[in-house]
Amino acid sequence: MYSFERNFKLKDGTPAAVHILAEVPQYVHDVAHICFNEWPDAYIKDFDIFSVDQCAEDLRKNYMQTDKVPIVLVAHTSAGRFLGTTTLQLRDMPKVRPDLENWLASLVVSPEFRGQQVGNHLIAAVRALAYSLAIQKLYLWTEKSATATWYERHGWRHAGMQDYLGTDVFLMTLEVTSP
Ligand SMILES: CC(C)(COP(=O)(O)OP(=O)(O)OC[C@H]1O[C@@H](n2cnc3c(N)ncnc32)[C@H](O)[C@@H]1OP(=O)(O)O)[C@@H](O)C(=O)NCCC(=O)NCCS
Repeated sequence: MYSFERNFKLKDGTPAAVHILAEVPQYVHDVAHICFNEWPDAYIKDFDIFSVDQCAEDLRKNYMQTDKVPIVLVAHTSAGRFLGTTTLQLRDMPKVRPDLENWLASLVVSPEFRGQQVGNHLIAAVRALAYSLAIQKLYLWTEKSATATWYERHGWRHAGMQDYLGTDVFLMTLEVTSP
């Protein structure tokens, strides 16, 4: 079994870490809740998942592994407060772009903990995880140009615009050369 841990601190010094969801399954509901509420359209129209409970059930059934994609990452404080999550996903546009595999997907940080580097640690963790699984190329999509610019600072390149469920989104790609 593959184990993953990335330690960091919040602005006030609170110790925090990123782990694989399969190793901290107590966060399943937090992940389902924040992700479904952030992207309800994508879950309903592209993944056929219609509620937070269905999302949690899907996580328990299909994402409780540590050594192959898909893998969910969870950021949390040492005291057990959920901070944010992202997924190393096999297909993040399953009906629209089934040709593209291995995505940085569902990156979201709890609103009260934004601006404290949690997002940056989750991105770095996905990259390290992809590298350790010998994945050479990652994709992501985002609606916002400010977020696309942020990813560019992390080495991601624009790969064109994509019509996703009626909205034009930025498609981006990363060559995974090092963790
Ligand atoms: C995008 C998101 C994950 C960032 O998480 P975060 O923990 O606040 O991010 P960080 O603290 O690591 O900051 C990341 C960068 O964004 C910048 N940033 C943070 N909050 C910002 C804001 N409200 N507006 C603009 N820039 C912001 C920071 O300056 C930082 O820049 P740096 O890399 O030069 O340090 C978070 O805002 C979020 O969950 N948004 C809603 C979901 C979403 O849009 N997900 C991405 C879709 S792919």
